[in-house]
Amino acid sequence: MKIAFFDSGIGGLTVLHHAMRVLPEEQFIFFADEDHVPYGVKPKEQIVKFVKEAFDFLVDEGVKAIVTACNTATSVAVEEMRSIYDIPIIGMEPAAKLALDRDGEHRVLVVATPITVKGKKMQVLIEHVDREHLVDLLPLPRLVEFAERAEFRSEDVTSYLRDQMAPYDFSQYSALVLGCTHFNYFKDTFREILPENVHFVDGNEGTVRELIRQLRGRNLLEKQEFSVEYCYSGRLVKDPAELERLQAYLKRLDAMYDIR
Ligand code: DGL
Repeated sequence: MKIAFFDSGIGGLTVLHHAMRVLPEEQFIFFADEDHVPYGVKPKEQIVKFVKEAFDFLVDEGVKAIVTACNTATSVAVEEMRSIYDIPIIGMEPAAKLALDRDGEHRVLVVATPITVKGKKMQVLIEHVDREHLVDLLPLPRLVEFAERAEFRSEDVTSYLRDQMAPYDFSQYSALVLGCTHFNYFKDTFREILPENVHFVDGNEGTVRELIRQLRGRNLLEKQEFSVEYCYSGRLVKDPAELERLQAYLKRLDAMYDIR
């Protein structure tokens, strides 16, 4: 049986990329809702509808679990999806807790989509983990657009990030939390802008660990021949040019993987 990874677009590949390294004997299906990306600037009701359509498709495919490799979709839709479907549904939230567990003295900047930043889930998370009021939140919606058009390194990307991050005194910070899966593609540019005391924190490893825990709990971990299929909004990707596009994203992630 296949494990599904779902995202609004190609951001979720960052989580799948890690999962493929950790689970080399599983079969995967990656669902990018390319017809509707970006989610992070859309009304919540619309996002819930898109996520439901994607989950209906994936459940019909007979997947054994769905990883919602999207902080935005998790924020607005995961609880409802869990009440509808009886398979493990793993969500993602910005890893602010992990950042504060690693360093509880310095400030932490969480970057995410506007929907995630403004969401109830984020508010509840901050109330739980940020006792000393060390966490700042910054929406970076344009990074999703840059990522979708594979514009990783450009003057526009650099000046956008420089402008957005200019108000922060990063000598006071220990971490930048990548709270949107589309943001991992830009670690090299972030690294150039941030001082060495600021480290990246994301939820990718924790999410895959949680996936394994839930599969093991239901006796659903398998040893099968590795495979991965891709689909855009319910259409299986077969066009060689599109498959090449996806490979180029994965290659980009290889280059970003060890940037801390
Ligand atoms: N990749 C998604 C996330 O982690 C959302 C990007 C978007 O569609 O706005 O939040």
